[in-house]
Amino acid sequence: MNNSTKIRQKFIEFFKSKSHTELQSSPLVPNDDPSILFTNAGMVQFKKWFTGDLKPKHKNVVTVQKCLRAGGKHNDLENVGYTPRHHTFFEMLGNFSFGKYFKEEAIKLAWDLLTKEYSLDKNRLIITVFKDDSESLKIWKKLTGFDENKILRISSSDNFWSMGEEGPCGPCSEIFFDNGSKITGGLPGSKNQDGNRFVEIWNLVFMEFLKKNNKLTNLPGKFVDTGMGLERITAVLSDKINNYDTDLFNFIFEKISIETKTKFNENTLISYRIISDHIKSITFMMAEGVLPSNEGRGYVLRRIIRRALLHVNKLSPGLIILHKLVDNVIDKYEKKYYELKNANSFIKNNLENEEKKFIETLSIGLDILNDEVSKISGVIFPSETAFKLYDTYGFPVDMTESILSKKGIKLDMNKYWSILENHKSLQKTSWVKDKNKTEDHLKLLLQKEIELTNFCGYDEDSSESTLVGIINDGKIVESVNQNDKVILIFNKTPFYAESGGQVGDSGVVLDENNELVGEINDTKKIGEGIYLHFVENCLRKIYLKNKYFLQIDKLKREKIRNNHSATHLLHESLRQVVGEHVSQKGSLVNEKKLRFDYSSNEQLSIEQIKKIEFLINKTIRSNTKVKISKMPIRKAIKSGAIALFGEKYPDIVRVVGIENSNESNLLNSIELCGGSHVYYTGQIGSFKILNDSSVSSGIRRVEALTGEEANNYYEKKLEIFEKIKNKLRATDETILDKIENLKKKSLLSVNSKTSDDLEFSEKKIIKFNNTSIYFDNLSCAVKDLKNCADIIKKEFKSGIIVLSTCQDKKVSIVVSVTNDLLNHYDSNEIIKKIITFLGGKGGGGRKDLSQGGAPLSENFAKMKSKIYDIIKS
Ligand code: SER
Repeated sequence: MNNSTKIRQKFIEFFKSKSHTELQSSPLVPNDDPSILFTNAGMVQFKKWFTGDLKPKHKNVVTVQKCLRAGGKHNDLENVGYTPRHHTFFEMLGNFSFGKYFKEEAIKLAWDLLTKEYSLDKNRLIITVFKDDSESLKIWKKLTGFDENKILRISSSDNFWSMGEEGPCGPCSEIFFDNGSKITGGLPGSKNQDGNRFVEIWNLVFMEFLKKNNKLTNLPGKFVDTGMGLERITAVLSDKINNYDTDLFNFIFEKISIETKTKFNENTLISYRIISDHIKSITFMMAEGVLPSNEGRGYVLRRIIRRALLHVNKLSPGLIILHKLVDNVIDKYEKKYYELKNANSFIKNNLENEEKKFIETLSIGLDILNDEVSKISGVIFPSETAFKLYDTYGFPVDMTESILSKKGIKLDMNKYWSILENHKSLQKTSWVKDKNKTEDHLKLLLQKEIELTNFCGYDEDSSESTLVGIINDGKIVESVNQNDKVILIFNKTPFYAESGGQVGDSGVVLDENNELVGEINDTKKIGEGIYLHFVENCLRKIYLKNKYFLQIDKLKREKIRNNHSATHLLHESLRQVVGEHVSQKGSLVNEKKLRFDYSSNEQLSIEQIKKIEFLINKTIRSNTKVKISKMPIRKAIKSGAIALFGEKYPDIVRVVGIENSNESNLLNSIELCGGSHVYYTGQIGSFKILNDSSVSSGIRRVEALTGEEANNYYEKKLEIFEKIKNKLRATDETILDKIENLKKKSLLSVNSKTSDDLEFSEKKIIKFNNTSIYFDNLSCAVKDLKNCADIIKKEFKSGIIVLSTCQDKKVSIVVSVTNDLLNHYDSNEIIKKIITFLGGKGGGGRKDLSQGGAPLSENFAKMKSKIYDIIKS
């Protein structure tokens, strides 16, 4: 076992032995906190426990949290690679207490772990406390026997930690490790504190306040939030000054060396470090479904990818190799972060695409740089352009600087940094502006006051339940009158609440006398499971704590169930037919149809659609039993279950298995899912794809029908087909020939205009590059064609006019060129090309007007779409 794995494990075991509950890392993309771009500390998932918006579920907790600091407050991107311990991605070891212990216990636990479990020499530890925090100072003194040379009071914000512009915060006490006097650097708080001698390893925050609108108010209690970067403690315990010299980074170095055919040395180490750090962020972000884009999280990802690519390029120009490092990251981390493995091909595919895109951008960026260099008169390069190169083309400034210095040109770095700072604060404000400021107090209140609803709808269609909450007009009330629009909450419900793409159930509420109270037309849930039943029109007065009878709309639920199980089959079939990289990007399952969004750039071919329908329908006919089970998340993932990117799953998950692993042409689907499903696939009846369309770049959408809806669809199609046959007086055998004949006839009557009622129409203009071509098929006499061309020419300012008329299986064509184009086009040549294309011979006239004829053939039907090619040829 390597160092970092042992250190992580020891941390968890230590705190578990001290009555802490181990919880899993939350996603990097915070579930419901728009105030931050990424999870940047261990406490993020507990924010509402600190603020009192939610009741803490545990008193003491220990976690290893994946974190990203590359956007907003705590943004380390620019430093990464140049210092021994800045990273974009890192893991934070943390213990938390929600009212059980405070300063004394937190300090003692930290000290014991460091000095006893990790066996650090206490003489090499230095402590800092916030200047006003005499209590911590006293505790530390008593515990360590240190005097004030080794317990420093710090007055700056370094010892007052806050999550962001808003949120929980408090004074903190930090533990530093002394790397020894041979390393330069001053004590914390001193002028030279940025040196590498003293490294901060653990931050103990005593959460007491809430920061909002720059004001501090008290939190509902006194809490503990500690954070120790795994990378730093691993370096210290591995006897290294630089985090990059530990097993957490150097596992990628070898691969970088092979792929770039370079060696890790003094000249390359910065690039090696940057690439090894960034590939971790990239892998973890993409495993949660983040894709490169030009805004928000996608923008941060794009910047990280580009920064890494520039360094690949610096090592070995033109290489596309980042995606080849993904396997190494996944191998290293998959045991701890189960989401990585499933995302493997999704990450690699999308990363490779982005790499290819960037190589193109890079050459544009270099052109801009060289162009600017050729324009400047002195030796100073404009900082604005350097910033543009960075911001738009992803050129880190050091790269620009190094290219420039080779040319003897300088960059005003101070000015550059000030432009960057300005931009950062703009970014920050726009992010904050974006967030939904209307914090829903009602929701929070409900979560505090009402117990989670007992959902019995997997097995039951109805239930007798007690009314535990009534919301009327945005307020929590005790009773409501007739005719009110209300939201009802019961202690128990069979109504499925909208989630995982499946819509909420509808149905009815009856009172104890079996009288209808109202129709529930939707069900949603908030928090971790308080079910809200929406009633448009309450028919009787109702009271809290009374008993009611709930009944779902069974038919609707049945159809939803069919569609949900079919969605799983569709997902699996896409993975088989399109590729393993297909991953779900969203879905909608209702009683009418199913919609499935997935990552892919390619439209499905007709063969692929047929294959998907074949596999699904075959699996439906096989009447496979749908197995629903509950198991620990790790076991589920191990058994091959698909989890959705970015979703935070509980430790025990529900697994839906349609298992046919040994049968050919039958789908084998295992997914984590909380939705409702059929018992046997045969219940789905049948499956039909309606369409496959593009939603946005890299995302496609399939819509499909099942069961009765699919049947209705086929019936409707057949009905139309029968009507067409009747109209054409055709049979199944003759219909196609009849249509062919009709098509030929229609060539003769495309347009019934004569020269007398001819009108110029913009719609007839076809634009190709800079040339406009006016094309129309008329039913005029051949002798009138030229006349018609003159009429059009009066309106058509500039371009080529091509008019045709068909008679007696012949087509006649006139070509006319407007005067301004006579230097470029000769109608004589054009008419010859057209006539040849149509299979005729000859044609001619003046330079501006010429005429020709050919036999009427299939080629004439193709002429409109090919006209530009014909003229150009
Ligand atoms: N929240 C603090 C930090 O991130 C301690 O965990 O440093």
